[in-house]
Amino acid sequence: MKPIPAVGLSSSIIQIVDFAVRILSKDHKIYQPTDGEAVENHTVLQDIAKNLFRLSLNIDQNDLKRLSSDPKRPKLSEAAEHLLKFSDETKILTATLIDAVLQAQARGSFSDPKWQTGRDALLTVWKKKEITGLKKKLKNVRKEVDIALMIALRAYLDQSAETGLPVFSADDNSQIHHWEKWQNEAMDSIHTNDWKPKNKKHVEEFSKKVDALITVENEAHFCHEVFAKLHFAVMDDRANSIPVAHEGTFEWMFESPPSYESGQQQASAFLDWLGDKSGQNLFWITGKPGSGKSVLMKHMFRNSRLFPSLEAWSGASPGINAAFFFWNSGIDLQVSSAGLLRSLLYESLQDMIYGPLEQDPGIIQWLFADRWNQFTSYGGGMHDFAFPDLRRGFELMISDVTKKFFFLIDGLDELGGYPEAVVDLLLSATKRDNVKICTSSRPMPGFQNAFEKRPSLMLDLMMSEDVRTYVSHVVHTQEQLVKICSYETDDSLKHNLISDIVEKSSGVFLWATLSTDFLVQGASESDDVVSLQASVWALPSDLDPLLTYIFEDLGTDKVDLQQASQLFRLVDAHGYPDLLALSFANDPHTNSSISAELRPLRPTELTKRLEDMLSILKVQCKNFLTVFEGSAGANEPDEEAVSSVADPRRLKINYSHRSIKDFVQSRPVLEKIRQATGGDAFNSDEYWANASLWALKTLRPQQKAQKQVFPVWEDLAWCMEYALRLEEKDNKVRVTYLDEVGRAGIGERHDTIAAMDLPRGYATETFLDIALWLNLTGYVRIKAKTAERKDIKHAMEYNRAVRKMLGTGGEDRWIGERRRLKAAHMNTSPELFLLLEYYAKLVRFATPKAHMEMPEYV
Ligand SMILES: *[C@@H]1O[C@H](CO)[C@@H](O)[C@H](O)[C@H]1NC(C)=O
Ligand SMILES: *[C@@H]1O[C@H](CO)[C@@H](O)[C@H](O)[C@H]1NC(C)=O
Ligand SMILES: *[C@@H]1O[C@H](CO)[C@@H](O)[C@H](O)[C@H]1NC(C)=O
Ligand SMILES: *[C@@H]1O[C@H](CO)[C@@H](O)[C@H](O)[C@H]1NC(C)=O
Ligand SMILES: *[C@@H]1O[C@H](CO)[C@@H](O)[C@H](O)[C@H]1NC(C)=O
Repeated sequence: MKPIPAVGLSSSIIQIVDFAVRILSKDHKIYQPTDGEAVENHTVLQDIAKNLFRLSLNIDQNDLKRLSSDPKRPKLSEAAEHLLKFSDETKILTATLIDAVLQAQARGSFSDPKWQTGRDALLTVWKKKEITGLKKKLKNVRKEVDIALMIALRAYLDQSAETGLPVFSADDNSQIHHWEKWQNEAMDSIHTNDWKPKNKKHVEEFSKKVDALITVENEAHFCHEVFAKLHFAVMDDRANSIPVAHEGTFEWMFESPPSYESGQQQASAFLDWLGDKSGQNLFWITGKPGSGKSVLMKHMFRNSRLFPSLEAWSGASPGINAAFFFWNSGIDLQVSSAGLLRSLLYESLQDMIYGPLEQDPGIIQWLFADRWNQFTSYGGGMHDFAFPDLRRGFELMISDVTKKFFFLIDGLDELGGYPEAVVDLLLSATKRDNVKICTSSRPMPGFQNAFEKRPSLMLDLMMSEDVRTYVSHVVHTQEQLVKICSYETDDSLKHNLISDIVEKSSGVFLWATLSTDFLVQGASESDDVVSLQASVWALPSDLDPLLTYIFEDLGTDKVDLQQASQLFRLVDAHGYPDLLALSFANDPHTNSSISAELRPLRPTELTKRLEDMLSILKVQCKNFLTVFEGSAGANEPDEEAVSSVADPRRLKINYSHRSIKDFVQSRPVLEKIRQATGGDAFNSDEYWANASLWALKTLRPQQKAQKQVFPVWEDLAWCMEYALRLEEKDNKVRVTYLDEVGRAGIGERHDTIAAMDLPRGYATETFLDIALWLNLTGYVRIKAKTAERKDIKHAMEYNRAVRKMLGTGGEDRWIGERRRLKAAHMNTSPELFLLLEYYAKLVRFATPKAHMEMPEYV
């Protein structure tokens, strides 16, 4: 039977009531972790407040609650009305508790004794009597809610026609599952025991059942949060950005009957190693830059052709397979090493829980026991993961010898420097019989020392046949080349051409793809096979000189060079743009973004933009930049729009290869790029400011769990960031620009039915709300004079409420890596608030106006 909304609402109320009662109890100790440092009183109180906020938001988002604010709602049953009443009461009680917690937090000082309980902390702001009083009221709510829920379930059971409780429609909310399961069990008990709401004993029995529901909810929330903390969007992006292996390549990896020609021996060594039980558990894949290590690693991940060998090793034990692809992110080693463990844990746990094993999610509570205890104790345990923390969880996970783990870890050299902690981790993990790791890196001395005595393979020595497969494919299918070759009667010339390219590549696959692209683009009507061959001979045979050669050839056309250089600069400045945004940034009409209409692009407009951009990347940028499908972005994945056409913003741009990025960012090349684009006069922030505004204006709503959502935040935040950066340069506040941003991001979207991804808990009404919260001081100062009084008042309320709700550091999630926004948010200026208060007043004569200099603006 479908769960009724009363179950969800009761659950939300009881979760918060139970939590609050525990915090108020004398005997409920704050849990301190067994590993690592004790948590500060300050943090404990912050976590308590956060958890209370979260739980009280859950009440607001309940279907029944939402329904209740609808003036045309159907008449509800008495039980439902009761529940609604108690939910309001709970919210009021919670609000006073939150205020007290935050007050205690503000008063706390480093000379305080250590608080053993939440109650101790509250005693610094409340009298005993107040605490006992609140606790009593909350306990009473709990009892009443239990009774109301029992009545609701009984009514549903009796199927009396007018229960007045609508049943859930198909909502894909995951909570529904355990509500449903619980409800069925609860109704069973009510039915078999004939529990009656008037009978005290019965209510007590029922109440125990309800406790079980709350436990499940807490576990589910914890599990969800831990997954969310482990996951990060770019981890999938990196894997996606690696090209898929070209058809027909890497076949040799999977050929099992060992053939004893030179290279083949090495290859079958891999399958042998995989199936082997002798305890030699680490395999090293190395080779020159561009030889295809990452492509091979990606090709092997969950490749069913490896399964027979894997099973030969794992036998009957379940096998867990996870992969991680390092990339050079410029962040420090600690962070990227933690990234490795986050991914391996995330993927393995997903595999265990949601894969065929269907393991109990309780495993997460076991791996992160301290966090779980902190969570149940005071809502804590949700802090970011650090390397030692993750390492403990990881070691614990692989200590389970009933499972076999096979990890693929690509690109250790991407970490920059020698990642001692990571190498150490791999070596120690592979000492276990139930863990195999295949890792890859360039053949640098550190790795050489660590891995050379282990099974390994040197990729460029293996690749010449694969390069031949690829080049031959291009020569036989690329229109221009097919045509040129067709004039030639002697097939051996064609084969020589192919062989020349293969030989020159020395097994560096990337060399071969860049060269063939270059040949194809340079080929003209007047070419024949012989002249093509001459072109091949002219190519330098190493990767770096080849890049120089191609770049110099690009330089022979001023316009092409200018265009390519502009794109390199835009990509470098942004770091990680999407294709559509890059096309906006690259738009030659400088007023386009300000004058653009507020609507999604039409399919034809969109297709044209994307196609034009792809062609520029190919022809002018010589495929130095590549496009790939990234994950859905910083926010939760959009469940329905999965294809890239539905969500063009997922098409991301990056350098095609690390060697290419290093080349473009090398000094002499950068200098040429600068010159070609007018040196310092080129202000990438201005381009990106315009592009972000344009992107914001053409945003399309997304479909999430049957609701329309406008994911405005990313673009909106970037617009503000760029406005601040521009202001930083010339001290002029970008008022015209920000007005348009506000209109596109908040103002005009405000009345649509779609929800926006803005801080929850306090309604955003005007852009001024956001501007004040993030402290766009210059802008607010200028707008205060002309803004409507009610908007100023609302903005001040909003700022207070949101800052309180997010707590110290809570805005990080919103601000992210935007450095100007970060700097602005941290400063607070009392004068600005005096000024706002002045403008928010109805009568201003008696109040002196706060003095603030008016900034310049454009
Ligand atoms: C919390 O209690 C500990 C233990 O006495 C004390 O050292 C610490 O300074 C207190 N912290 C805060 C932020 O009040
Ligand atoms: C950005 O837009 C402004 C306002 O329309 C315009 O003046 C400026 O030239 C644009 N900048 C670029 C780099 O396109
Ligand atoms: C934008 O600029 C173009 C040419 O510079 C001009 O023709 C057009 O009218 C301008 N549009 C707006 C809305 O200002
Ligand atoms: C883009 O590619 C370069 C070179 O491969 C890599 O170092 C960088 O981390 C990539 N960026 C992202 C966000 O994937
Ligand atoms: C906002 O930031 C500015 C610096 O950009 C600082 O001077 C000011 O005090 C801050 N104001 C508020 C209200 O936070």
